[in-house]
Amino acid sequence: MCTTQKFTSSDLLSGLRGAVSTKLLISALQQNLFTYLETTREVDEIAAHFGWHHQNCVKYLEILSHIGLVELSGDTAHNSPDSTRLLGDCSEQSIRALLLESHKWCMAPLEHLEDLLRDGPAPPNTFHNTAEVSVTEVVWETIVRCGASIAFENDGRRLAQVLASLPNSANFKRMLDLGGGHGANAIMAVKKLPGLKADILDFPGVLKIADEFVHKHELTKRIGLVPADYMRDALPSGYDLVLASDTLNFTLPLRNTGMVIKKVYEALNAEGCFVSLHDAPLPPDEPRRPQANWPFECHVCELVSGQPMGIPASDFLAHEMVRAGFSQIYSRYMRLDSGIHRLDVARKSCPER
Ligand SMILES: C[S@@+](CC[C@H](N)C(=O)[O-])C[C@H]1O[C@@H](n2cnc3c(N)ncnc32)[C@H](O)[C@@H]1O
Repeated sequence: MCTTQKFTSSDLLSGLRGAVSTKLLISALQQNLFTYLETTREVDEIAAHFGWHHQNCVKYLEILSHIGLVELSGDTAHNSPDSTRLLGDCSEQSIRALLLESHKWCMAPLEHLEDLLRDGPAPPNTFHNTAEVSVTEVVWETIVRCGASIAFENDGRRLAQVLASLPNSANFKRMLDLGGGHGANAIMAVKKLPGLKADILDFPGVLKIADEFVHKHELTKRIGLVPADYMRDALPSGYDLVLASDTLNFTLPLRNTGMVIKKVYEALNAEGCFVSLHDAPLPPDEPRRPQANWPFECHVCELVSGQPMGIPASDFLAHEMVRAGFSQIYSRYMRLDSGIHRLDVARKSCPER
């Protein structure tokens, strides 16, 4: 008999309520409701604007107000402050685009779950790296733009704190942000470590986004951009720190993880540090809350595409680091707004004298 209780009936019911709330939220986002309700509106005006049945418009607004997304007072409605900050069009912290994009990849395909179970994965699409079709820059541009707000709000700062607490961090002079995307991690790192300069490496189209942020933060003298495909191209070298945040799992479909980690090893100076932050299976003692991190969504992407997307075991990258020549691997889990992540830190030892 199984003795460890993994979830309760209350967890299952909350999960169902979460799915219902999400359905309502996504529908409101798709119809731009939170942009419209940045201004207080009469309920009649809202129904007329969206072409909604009056009675159901009132009911919908009532439900959204129960979730805390909308504030109703008398015959008028407007966004709650959190909706304006996190779901509107104008706020820098808005994760509207991220929610819509994640929904597109992880929830919409489940409308066809029975077909997927019967017929197997859909034909490869542009999101997935295969030998023939590489991830298009356009798709990455969308995803990276969507992820920028969450990275700039908290996660980038937390990661910078981790980098600053590494032994020897005060001596770091050059950092490579591999697959750096929007550049939030490099930006926060150089702000935290005054002696540090960074290069952000990514596809040329994605670097347009990093360029915008580097200019906005007035860091053009300390942050450079390196357009490259780290699977195909050689990496520049001479770094004291290489960061790979949420990027190495995209080497999995081509089984190139070991080769990319070897390139990182070559790119580092002796005593340099390699930090990988990535989604991985949760530690065994973590209460079973599969929705706590991306592997949960990864599995859905794998079901849909048939391509491996998730790091297969918690110590997978640490093993690859050892195989590439790294020593002194230190690992732990980190709780971020974007989910629980595994952190593997490896050091390149001095050559024997
Ligand atoms: C999920 S995003 C992570 C962005 C950022 N590092 C972060 O932590 O939020 C993955 C990034 O890896 C980049 N990437 C994926 N494959 C790559 C490759 N072969 N060469 C260069 N960049 C790549 C993508 O363009 C994207 O910017």
